[in-house]
Amino acid sequence: NSDVRESMFLVSEFAKNYFHDVLLNTEEGKAIGYSYFKERGFTAETIKKFSLGFSPESWDAFTKEALGKGYKLEFLESTGFTIVKDDRHFDRFRGRVMFPIQSMSGRTVGFGGRILTNDKKAAKYVNSPESEIYHKSKVLYGINHAKQAIAKLNNCFLVEGYTDVIQFHQAGIENVVASSGTALTPDQIRLINRLTKNITVLFDGDAAGLRASVRGIDLILEEGMNVKVCTFPEGEDPDSFARKTPYEQLIAYLDENSRDFIQFKASLLMDEAKNDPIKKADLIRDMVTSISKIPDRIRREIYIQECSRIMDISEQVLVSTLAQMVQKDL
Ligand code: CTP
Ligand code: MN
Ligand code: MN
Ligand code: MN
Ligand code: MN
Repeated sequence: NSDVRESMFLVSEFAKNYFHDVLLNTEEGKAIGYSYFKERGFTAETIKKFSLGFSPESWDAFTKEALGKGYKLEFLESTGFTIVKDDRHFDRFRGRVMFPIQSMSGRTVGFGGRILTNDKKAAKYVNSPESEIYHKSKVLYGINHAKQAIAKLNNCFLVEGYTDVIQFHQAGIENVVASSGTALTPDQIRLINRLTKNITVLFDGDAAGLRASVRGIDLILEEGMNVKVCTFPEGEDPDSFARKTPYEQLIAYLDENSRDFIQFKASLLMDEAKNDPIKKADLIRDMVTSISKIPDRIRREIYIQECSRIMDISEQVLVSTLAQMVQKDL
């Protein structure tokens, strides 16, 4: 079993080098893949740092190359690079720019491959399937490049996508990882928890991003960690925003717009709730539900005070609501 995993790691490492080489050194890779990354504003240094690549537009170029180098079909299939169907095999990743996904220690465990068009009908990203070495709920894209900065700065920016991580690095902000579009999981949060207790959620400025931020909050609180949320203007994500914002301004924006979860929830829902007692009651209950996830009693108390102040409601009623919720949990 550990032999199997080792073989799968070797195949993945080979794939990383192959796709990177195709990007840099073939006509097709340069004309299509490299120019795509350039178009997005990625520098040569960034492309190298993240080992970005390109998978040729061909049914089986990668599989052929790997078999020729002695890699076994068994492991090409179990890692998901090769799809076998009725005795024929073809490449999973074809004509896509490639983002290798690496573990905390820097081993390549999977890939995301993006199409080059903005064709809404095709899947924008194709990802490696779950395997012995790739569990998407347990990895954070960028963690290998971010771990030192996260520990040093004692904060982790959590974004949605590959390009958000990369653009932030290029902008000089290195304490950043991506959940890669999956709903944030406790395993992912625990990976960060090994490095810092503080997470700032930076999800896309759209309805899906806001929903995901709200869901993430309770999970992070449950791990006993501190969570802030920074939102972006409608239609922007950290990549697009960072790309057009000079460093000083970007830092200032993140600083000024990162709010504690309770402030975030208030600002998100207060407009609607202000003149509607029922919505206001729902919002308060929602805040107390989040507070109830915090393991530490003193912290819960502090947030109750904060909630009372923001929502203009007595601490007493909040405390008894909280007590009921915590009771139910036991
Ligand atoms: N994602 C995915 N499959 C999809 C769409 C998204 O796996 N079909 C994941 C990717 O990891 C992606 C992240 O979810 O990076 C965020 O999705 P989205 O915001 O749609 O993409 P961006 O990262 O913004 O990518 P781009 O800027 O290239 O459009
Ligand atoms: Mn496993
Ligand atoms: Mn999005
Ligand atoms: Mn996005
Ligand atoms: Mn984007």
